[in-house]
Amino acid sequence: MMMSPVLLLLLLGLLCFICLRRKRRPGEAPLVSGWIPFLGRALDFGRDAQAFLQEQRRRHGDVFTVHLAGKYLTFILDPLLYPSVVRQGRQLDFHQFADTVAPPTFGYPPVRKGFPGLSEQIIRSFQLMQGEHLGVLTESMMGNLMLVLRQDHLCAGGGGWTSGSIFDFCNSVMFEATFLTIFGGPERGRRHEGMEDMREDFQRFDRMFPLLIAQVPIGLLGRTRAVRSKLIDRFLPDRMSSWTGTSQLIKTRSKLLEQHASLRDTDKGAHHFAILWASVGNTVPACFWVLYFLLRDPEALQAVRQEVLEVLRQSGGEFSPEKDLALSREQLDSMVLLESSISEGLRLSSASTNIRVSQEDFSLRLNAERSVSVRKGDVIALYPQSMHMDPDIYQDPQSFRYDRFVQDGRVKTDFYKSGQKLKFFLMPFGSGTSMCPGRYFAVNEIKQFLSLVLLYLDLDLQPGQNRVSLDYGRAGLGILLPNADVRFHYRLRAASQSPAE
Ligand code: HEM
Repeated sequence: MMMSPVLLLLLLGLLCFICLRRKRRPGEAPLVSGWIPFLGRALDFGRDAQAFLQEQRRRHGDVFTVHLAGKYLTFILDPLLYPSVVRQGRQLDFHQFADTVAPPTFGYPPVRKGFPGLSEQIIRSFQLMQGEHLGVLTESMMGNLMLVLRQDHLCAGGGGWTSGSIFDFCNSVMFEATFLTIFGGPERGRRHEGMEDMREDFQRFDRMFPLLIAQVPIGLLGRTRAVRSKLIDRFLPDRMSSWTGTSQLIKTRSKLLEQHASLRDTDKGAHHFAILWASVGNTVPACFWVLYFLLRDPEALQAVRQEVLEVLRQSGGEFSPEKDLALSREQLDSMVLLESSISEGLRLSSASTNIRVSQEDFSLRLNAERSVSVRKGDVIALYPQSMHMDPDIYQDPQSFRYDRFVQDGRVKTDFYKSGQKLKFFLMPFGSGTSMCPGRYFAVNEIKQFLSLVLLYLDLDLQPGQNRVSLDYGRAGLGILLPNADVRFHYRLRAASQSPAE
């Protein structure tokens, strides 16, 4: 009987796959490879990364290698072993990986190949979100939050209730206030036109973000290229040059990009667009989760609101719904219950992967007794969600406990696994060389947003809604989105109200 050429090719392909399939070598971690060529276990991982990893952990222990979409990722799930990965500098690299993934996602050319020195300059520019610059950013954010909240939400309804959805609410306020703070506005105290349009485009792009990061060509993703071009056009140098109140971060980055003649204006716009994604892509869902958890827990809401009022009272300030407020950095720092609620919200919603690429074949020392062999090009991955949900570290890990990160009136940093104190116990912002440079600003702006919302507004969930849960579409990439929005209503608070009212 003759075999069809297609069948023959398929059989040959399968034979090659079986023969060339990676085999575990001595010293290497157990291998989880699956039977689908190239994809490996990518589908199982994409369906529910946390459940998949827990299953592998049960079978193979805390360290194992998974074949995922053509790559081999060695997961280290024991947080007591994290320091060995975070410390490892020379053999494990992050930035080369970032330069493979970010440019095609945001639409600029790879930085490390054609632009000598630019990568290091960009990394240095991230310091402009910290130290003295953090104070300037935080102050500017306060003014912009007040501007947007006052005009859109604090004058509505003449004292009556307004209905809305929590995600939309957080998105509309945080997106615009962050944009004005980082990139500047058309004039002092004025807002850009077309923000709603831009937010919608951003959400369209964001829905495709996981596929772009997985290196699916943008041409296969419907209108995503056109949407991205529209977003990038917002940041063309001619436009941006007329904005005022632009942060030092963006001014410095614009100057750096200007020094490279081979970068086109759209490339520069794409670099700025990447910063927009970094600055709101995680912060908006984080605000959603914390506000949602607080609204579901009246005791927590009351305690946090009381803390904000108390901090204000201690500094001689007084809340009045007609007056704008400015909370200083010191005031924000002293809000430990609010900070704990934010940490708890981040613990429950973050699912980032910390990636390092091995630069050579070597033996990675995990602790005094244990090492694992790694091949050049393999990825070492930490998946902190498994730590955030570990009942040995966090009792009843699925519940929101607003004061979990407070002890004796201070921020709690003592967390233990198997009786040993953990160096890393909460990692929504990554670790080591790839740690988020905007983390201090992020926490400050989330605090500002929540304290203003709790001070100025009475809020209530609308009854009869199902609990929302995490949408795993973004697993591995940061703060997860909710699988549905939540209806709530709100109204301006009266000046003399007690926190409980
Ligand atoms: C809740 C809010 C935020 C979370 C959870 C978060 C989380 C992260 C994480 C996990 C990374 C590392 C990515 C990786 O390892 O691949 C990262 C990188 C980064 N984040 Fe954030 N971030 C937040 C807010 C912000 C804000 C407000 C900014 C301000 C502009 C920002 C700027 C950046 C930048 C520029 C990078 C890239 C750093 C690099 O390439 O070395 N982030 N963020």
